[in-house]
Amino acid sequence: MPLKLLSSLVMSGLPPWFPEPMRIVKVGSTIGALALTKWYASGSTCRADRDMHGRVVIITGGTTGIGAITAYELANRGAQIVLLTRQPPTDPFLAEFVDDLRDRTNNQLIYAEQVDLASLHSIRQFATRWVDNVPPRRLDMIILCAATLTPPGGRRSKTPEAGIETTWMVNFLANFHLLGILSPAIRAQPFDRDVRIIIPTCSTYIASPPLDAPFEDKNWSPGAAYARSKLALMVFAQAYQKHLDAYKRPDQLPMNARVFLADPGYTRTAGMMRWLTRGSLFGLLLYMLVYPLVWLLLKSPLMGAQTILYAALEGSLVREPGGKLFKECMEVDYARKDIKDEEVAKKLWEASDKLIEKAEKEAAVKRAKQKQEEEKKKEEEKQAKQVEEIESLVDAISKGKKKEAEKAKAKANTANKTKKGKTGKAAGSS
Ligand SMILES: NC(=O)c1ccc[n+]([C@@H]2O[C@H](COP(=O)([O-])OP(=O)(O)OC[C@H]3O[C@@H](n4cnc5c(N)ncnc54)[C@H](OP(=O)(O)O)[C@@H]3O)[C@@H](O)[C@H]2O)c1
Repeated sequence: MPLKLLSSLVMSGLPPWFPEPMRIVKVGSTIGALALTKWYASGSTCRADRDMHGRVVIITGGTTGIGAITAYELANRGAQIVLLTRQPPTDPFLAEFVDDLRDRTNNQLIYAEQVDLASLHSIRQFATRWVDNVPPRRLDMIILCAATLTPPGGRRSKTPEAGIETTWMVNFLANFHLLGILSPAIRAQPFDRDVRIIIPTCSTYIASPPLDAPFEDKNWSPGAAYARSKLALMVFAQAYQKHLDAYKRPDQLPMNARVFLADPGYTRTAGMMRWLTRGSLFGLLLYMLVYPLVWLLLKSPLMGAQTILYAALEGSLVREPGGKLFKECMEVDYARKDIKDEEVAKKLWEASDKLIEKAEKEAAVKRAKQKQEEEKKKEEEKQAKQVEEIESLVDAISKGKKKEAEKAKAKANTANKTKKGKTGKAAGSS
């Protein structure tokens, strides 16, 4: 058969149904170029691996996108996962998510704890509970995947609790606050434990306005706010590593906790979709129309999680100093000098501390006032109920008395009538 085909090709050339060679080259090179683009855009795959059994991992943003894949991969390797979620664990969707994750990974050690990263109080409640545990709870890893991004053209919003700009609060201040309170728990881990704090960042930090430049209403834009929050996280990550390294352990051994920054690259997640669609229906329609292009150029959440998994699973990092930035599963340099600027870090740390102190005080006063008002309302309701009860009692008594009086009157009337009857009869007989 092949010989027959070859001889007919030699004798009479290409059959008429066969496409022109140039066309084949064109189609082939287009497919090749698309495959190459897809391969390049998908980025590197994490080859690192290690057993996670027995290790305790806290993850924020672990229910969607890159965080959900990270949580799955670590749970699949046996880690105990504590998901910090905005919703309470009783939320039916969250309960189902946790159950599903347990089933898929055959790992029952997956829990959810409610922590709203837009609330300093909520973060403090969780973190102090964790730190107050005696003996100190095991903690091997903290992965801070949660983030928020206002779609382009969106308005600047503030947190309901403390009036702090939302992007700054959720993306930066919440992590600053959480790690600040958890610091004793991190430092208390035994020396032989490889403790890692992994902070996802984004290359948009390169274009961020400097942290000390005014960033009020008129300079605010969703993109700049996001980039600035990521820049702040990166500056804080360096300062936090120094803060950990400066701790004198009781066993005199060096610090075993490392902070790593990981850039996942542009990924098709819910957050990214909100950004691309501008959070509008029309945007969603356009997104669906250009989805093949989005699919081609952006990573899948699985590929987006690879660099975070590298920071979590690469064994050799235990011998390296913290403070490194990873991208495509390898170490890269910072593109800005101010990330390692101690003066910038000091100012950021002090300003954040001050802001948190002020906001927490104000929020506490607000909560106390609210509690007072609620108690006052409850007391008023209680009093009103008591008055109502007394009134109904008085009413019942007066009604009872009235009934008794009527009964007595009726009795007297019947007695009178019988008396009259008797006297009438007596008069008749005489
Ligand atoms: N996607 C990208 O292209 C890209 C690129 C570079 C860097 N990154 C970074 O990678 C990380 C993961 O990105 P992603 O795209 O997977 O994120 P995402 O899909 O937007 O998910 C964000 C997560 O943060 C949680 N979150 C938001 N506000 C919260 C709050 N107030 N309290 C508690 N949790 C809150 C969300 O919880 P709910 O589900 O309850 O809303 C969600 O689980 C982020 O740090 C992001 O900045 C992403």
